[in-house]
Amino acid sequence: MEFGFRFPTDIHFGRGIVQRNSAALRLGARAFVVTGKRSGRASGALADVIAALTHEKIECSVFEGIGNNPDVEQCRAVGAQARAYHADFIIGIGGGSPLDAAKAVAVFAANDIPAEQLFTNSYENAVLPIVAVPTTSGTGSEATPWSVMTYHAVKTKRSFGSLQTYPRVALLDPTYTDNLPLAITRSTAMDAFTHCLESVISLKATPLTDALNFYALSRFRALMPQLEAGDVVSLRDALMLVSLLGGVTISQTGTTLMHSIAYPFTYFHGTAHGLANAFALPVYVEEVAEHRPDRLAAALNALGMSQAELTAYVQRNYPIDFTPDRTMFPLWAEQTAAQGGARNTGTPLDPPHLEALYARIFA
Ligand SMILES: [Fe+2]
Repeated sequence: MEFGFRFPTDIHFGRGIVQRNSAALRLGARAFVVTGKRSGRASGALADVIAALTHEKIECSVFEGIGNNPDVEQCRAVGAQARAYHADFIIGIGGGSPLDAAKAVAVFAANDIPAEQLFTNSYENAVLPIVAVPTTSGTGSEATPWSVMTYHAVKTKRSFGSLQTYPRVALLDPTYTDNLPLAITRSTAMDAFTHCLESVISLKATPLTDALNFYALSRFRALMPQLEAGDVVSLRDALMLVSLLGGVTISQTGTTLMHSIAYPFTYFHGTAHGLANAFALPVYVEEVAEHRPDRLAAALNALGMSQAELTAYVQRNYPIDFTPDRTMFPLWAEQTAAQGGARNTGTPLDPPHLEALYARIFA
């Protein structure tokens, strides 16, 4: 047996954690805050962060314009703003999009480089330190180096990430998710769940990631009936914990074919990321049952559900809500085959086979 587990992020979890941990923000004299158009203010996180910075006598500039599925060129422009501000570190506040954007901004703030170079993970100057404050429970981005960008030059989503782009500090306060609408709670929960499931299937899974994922899957199983019933008030802390655990484990193992299959649903149809994963899940699980049966059995055992029960739950709660243009399937198959996640699964990746998977999803 041989494995490693390198994890450089300082994690602070709990209600009121930003107010109580303002010292965790002592990463320089000037902070540049990156957040969404609504998420920072609506969650209360932006006010808490500004108060904590003020308490620590750290100056800050705030950019509140990150939309869904952040675009690499926008992040490059915001990075230039942070550079002009002479920011010492970057604080990302929000769901997956602002947190992923903050990582790109931290790269571009230190490096005036073309968009394409972001994806090489090789930069001349050290990436600025990143603080991540999630306001949803799903992405796990606060605990991973990964950042997913919309990249129009290649007509899909593309990711980057290396040891340099792990957040230095993650401040997780479930209070920021208390007022999330049910639809967002459900879709982001599905993202967190798929991270834990896929991390078990990943060719890079280790005994340590298994231990975390098996625990997370059993916790998630207990939440599923209330998620289905729409009774989520008491689930906020547990959902954020599952999301964090999924982030920690995919930081080690990466995601797999399910995420890769689902990216075009978001890029071409605007489907929320967690929903896109759910749409891909039933066929993905069939695929894994055929080619990685032992790992699927391990995940389902931890979850305490059969494959049929899981598939039925997902189809019942996350019905596919768009009709794709089938002439796109060859392009989608080609894009999927090129994704690192797909290559991390141990299932066939020839484009005709992947095209057939898309046909099965939308049969
Ligand atoms: Fe995800």
